[in-house]
Amino acid sequence: MACPFQQSAPSLNPAVLALDWLLGSWESDEPGEGSFPTIPPFRYSEMLQFTHVGQPVINFTFNAFHAESKKPMHRECGFIRLQPGTNRVAFIIAQNSGLVEIEEGELTGQQVTLQTHALARTSFSKEPHVQQISREFRLRGDGRLEQTVSMATSNQPLMQHLHITYHRS
Ligand code: HEM
Repeated sequence: MACPFQQSAPSLNPAVLALDWLLGSWESDEPGEGSFPTIPPFRYSEMLQFTHVGQPVINFTFNAFHAESKKPMHRECGFIRLQPGTNRVAFIIAQNSGLVEIEEGELTGQQVTLQTHALARTSFSKEPHVQQISREFRLRGDGRLEQTVSMATSNQPLMQHLHITYHRS
């Protein structure tokens, strides 16, 4: 996205070159599938944006919508950083539910696997509370991006919550 304070489009910072396959806008093909033992299964659509402004950081926003009514639902935004000289990756994330978290993991080719490193929530977040998140992004051979999210809450062990694929939009 163009920044009014910058004269021209910046080049991608070499520090995040290994994440260039994520850059751009993505839209779910088929509705994503949501599940968890304590809730009815649901379907959703989602738009992802990964951008940069030349810093050694990727910026992102994830906006989910109800698959039929298109009503806005879950939203996340944040930053991705890579540890220089390694394949360690960190996602720094704020969620509209009142959760903020850092997920860390590894970048292997065009796949990122992440686990909760730190997590905090508003003092008035409703229960059950998320205790742990594990997430994977993978660019498939057919050019589609796939995201899988599992979570553990205060009353359920780690289990899949979301699975969705996207095409470039
Ligand atoms: C429910 C966490 C992403 C839709 C929940 C619950 C938690 C949670 C803790 C309550 C489970 C229970 O009652 O036992 C998260 C986390 C996410 C995430 C940590 C991201 C890392 C999403 C996304 C959607 C979504 C992208 C897409 C629309 C829902 C729905 C429910 C739900 C529909 C059930 C109704 C409700 O409790 O609001 N989620 N969620 N979630 N989540 Fe997510």
